[in-house]
Amino acid sequence: MSALTELNQQLTLCHKCDIARLRTKVVPGEGAENAEIMFIGEAPGWHEDQQGRPFVGQAGQYLDRLLLSINLNRQQVYIANVIKCRPPDNRDPLPTEIQNCRDWLDKQIDIIKPKMIVTLGRYSMAMYFPGKSISKIHGTALKHDGIIYFAMYHPAAALHQQSLRNEIEADMQKIPRLIAEINKVQEEEPPPQQLNMFEV
Ligand code: URA
Repeated sequence: MSALTELNQQLTLCHKCDIARLRTKVVPGEGAENAEIMFIGEAPGWHEDQQGRPFVGQAGQYLDRLLLSINLNRQQVYIANVIKCRPPDNRDPLPTEIQNCRDWLDKQIDIIKPKMIVTLGRYSMAMYFPGKSISKIHGTALKHDGIIYFAMYHPAAALHQQSLRNEIEADMQKIPRLIAEINKVQEEEPPPQQLNMFEV
């Protein structure tokens, strides 16, 4: 069994938060274990909770279309969430739930070793771009310890608001160039440890 499968199996036994009692299924995440790009959303919704799979509802179908627009599908990337259980009535995740689930997400990242982490929405953005506002930093990237962090609006928010939809679709188009740049830098020289924010 792969390290990721084992981790995700352990996750299904997690009862650190009260909301674990309410779940139908844990939603660990899915995709390629060696994905170059990892997308991190917020929390499972009703459909995800039923199926145990991330982004399978309306927002997920939109995410699939966004991926297709850059010639990717969900088997080629890894899709996860900040928290792995559905909050009741789709309320926002609580700080304690985010903290309790952080270790699972960090372990997933350690195993997958993505070159790029794309945050979808405010909650995953806050983990890697603390104190920033999504309306200001969406479509910008931050490089840290060899990983590019790239902030995007949440597909559910963008789906119903035309202005955000234009933004999320334009931001998605920046991803292939960022990936190509990382691959080029890695071929040329070992990446220096750096922390800098840049416009793309
Ligand atoms: N929204 C999310 O943030 N994650 C999902 O898995 C589904 C909808």
